[in-house]
Amino acid sequence: MFYNVFEYKKNSSSSEVTPEGIYLARRRLLTGAAALALAGGKAAPSAAAPAALPVLEAARNARFSAAEPLTSYGDITAYNNFYEFGTGKDDPQRRAQALRTHPWNVAISGEVETSGVFTLEDILKPHPLEERVYRLRCVERWSMVIPWVGFPLADLLQRFRPTSKAKYVAFTTLRDPKQMPGQRDGWLDWPYVEGLRIDEAMHPLTLLAVGLYGRVLPNQNGAPLRLVVPWKYGFKGIKSIVAIRFTERQPPTSWNIAAPDEYGFYANVNPAVDHPRWSQASERRIGAGLFEATQPTLPFNGYAAEVAPLYRGMNLHRWF
Ligand code: MTE
Repeated sequence: MFYNVFEYKKNSSSSEVTPEGIYLARRRLLTGAAALALAGGKAAPSAAAPAALPVLEAARNARFSAAEPLTSYGDITAYNNFYEFGTGKDDPQRRAQALRTHPWNVAISGEVETSGVFTLEDILKPHPLEERVYRLRCVERWSMVIPWVGFPLADLLQRFRPTSKAKYVAFTTLRDPKQMPGQRDGWLDWPYVEGLRIDEAMHPLTLLAVGLYGRVLPNQNGAPLRLVVPWKYGFKGIKSIVAIRFTERQPPTSWNIAAPDEYGFYANVNPAVDHPRWSQASERRIGAGLFEATQPTLPFNGYAAEVAPLYRGMNLHRWF
């Protein structure tokens, strides 16, 4: 089924987006068995839906989903950080559409028994997709609530049988200045790189996303494959991944290279640890009412019960 949806994407116009209203209506219709019966991405969400990105079959994982109003599809796909396409929030939506996401390969290397270069289809094939509603808190003090479609990163990593020396996992975004005009400028050292400690990477909340709002990821959100780590600031969620490397040493990360005093390796959402230039105690929920009133930021972005034990005994002011 994936082969078809990614083939389809090549021929579809990404300007024809699906409004969340259609998505919500479809959700109301497709509950439980009905949703499963439509498995395979064969069914169009609605005759009224504009032709858009392909539908993905994914059952909602209620255990890992936040019960909060969703940010609109329009906001999630028009207010982006993807510096490879410029530094303006609307640059990625305008400039990422020409990114070719098929064919796409991912190189697996480092401290693993099985390394190699795998096609996106190889990477995705064994993994049933889930929908998970996660809060995303950007280090810039705005937040969204996003219905991702993806699967646990741990399930993928285990397939390559990490050795006992695999203490960290490093991720790399595509580097291709021809396709990514922002890479012709020196805002960051390209390619964008990120990393997690192996226990963070293996945590059940850590997701590899391939879609949102029940459809294939728009390019500006990191197609065809991006990381989502909901208890960390958004910059850890590296987009358009082409390489995953298992390492013994802590890998370099783009924002830490650019400004080590401002962006640490861990980047756990923490209202008690200010950014040197602003407080992190509150956030603006994008699209939430006329004035987008701020709300308090929660430790670990509200996921403390699940992830605080990973950092037991660590000074989170030092390891920010
Ligand atoms: N990944 C790459 N390759 N390049 C980027 O500039 N920006 C990060 C992250 N992943 C970024 C990236 C930042 S700062 C944030 S907040 C999130 O992507 C934003 O994800 P979104 O645009 O899907 O909301």
